[in-house]
Amino acid sequence: MVHEGETLNRKVSEDTLASSVYHADMRRIDTIEPFRVMQLLERAKELESEGKKIIHMEIGEPDFPTPASVLDAARNLLDGDQFYTASTGAPALQQAMAHWYQQEYGVAVAAERILITPGSSGAFNMLYAVLLNAGESVLLPDPGYPCQRNFVRLAGGEPINIPVDPSTAYHLSADLVDRYWQPHTRVAVVINPSNPTGTLMPRQALQDIAERCKLKGGYLISDEIYHGLTYGERPACALEVSDDAIVVNSFSKRWAMTGWRVGWTIVPDQLIDPCRRVMQNIFIAAPTLSQMAAIEALKETESVERMRLAYDERRRFLLSELPKLGFEVVVEPQGAFYIYAGVSQLTDDSRTFCWRMLEEAGVAITPGEDFGMFQANQHVRFSYAASLHDIRLGVDRVRAFLSHDNRE
Ligand SMILES: Cc1ncc(COP(=O)(O)O)c(C=O)c1O
Repeated sequence: MVHEGETLNRKVSEDTLASSVYHADMRRIDTIEPFRVMQLLERAKELESEGKKIIHMEIGEPDFPTPASVLDAARNLLDGDQFYTASTGAPALQQAMAHWYQQEYGVAVAAERILITPGSSGAFNMLYAVLLNAGESVLLPDPGYPCQRNFVRLAGGEPINIPVDPSTAYHLSADLVDRYWQPHTRVAVVINPSNPTGTLMPRQALQDIAERCKLKGGYLISDEIYHGLTYGERPACALEVSDDAIVVNSFSKRWAMTGWRVGWTIVPDQLIDPCRRVMQNIFIAAPTLSQMAAIEALKETESVERMRLAYDERRRFLLSELPKLGFEVVVEPQGAFYIYAGVSQLTDDSRTFCWRMLEEAGVAITPGEDFGMFQANQHVRFSYAASLHDIRLGVDRVRAFLSHDNRE
């Protein structure tokens, strides 16, 4: 049953991503792919150092500063205790988060189930260390957040990249879980809202997938890092539909705190102790100052709302302009700060297209290959974590680039 996807994955891998194909004689490190967008960013920085103005629509990092109230709190905290907290997190933050879950989603979560990690990346690495034995697999959406595949490989697991398309709003579904789940599969991951597509998963679909994972004796991990950055409907937290789901989230995006390295995971009771043991060993604890500042962040609503409204304005601008330029947006993104656009009317090679756009137009966008293999050459991702002024300029430059291209 897995064969169609596997064949597809393997074929595209062989064509475009030789390094991601796992051969028995390979060292594990040889299966770890670079985060390609960083290469584009490095070149963009080089061009900037030559005095060129580059429009950055490649990076998935808020362009806003951390809210002032959080910065103020951190300054005051500098005089306080800077020792390790408990491995699972500062109890005061765990309590504050439990309260926040009640307010935000109406779900009651015991504070000890909320484990504080160095960013959500720390949570994923820890979880895969807990959940996977060598060779066990994890179902991932393709396109999806690129580091996921590598987190799984680092734990000795096998990422199964499942092609997703507009028919499921670019998300895994219960049917896809049924089709791809194998005896050695342990986990399915949903990213809701999605990176790179910004699309939301309907509540019922989330519930169906959670039930399917439970039925199969595995786990659903719900990556909710873009919750709070949505522009219409509010996505459901996986804990609203299933108490057995594992939630992963972070202060990075919603609170513009990427560099503070503080995130969290909420796990079922039976995983608390295994997680604690791994956390004690691999990172001892998340940064103390950041954890304390995060308590302040949870109280911050005004500046978070201001950022959300600004993202929404940029989103609407791009959604109206991109189709006029020949980009195709099949499912309207309602969250995160990304638009995943089809480029088949413009090129059949999105990698070259993006590199040319950077070199010739000074606009950085990310090629589809960063997010997987499925129809990667026909897509690019625009990030609108850039000012509206820059985005307008970027659109003008793309228009000029494309009309020049057409004349040639
Ligand atoms: C979907 C998704 N998950 C996780 C992360 C990792 O974020 P952090 O480790 O800063 O919490 C990112 C970062 O871009 C992301 O887009």
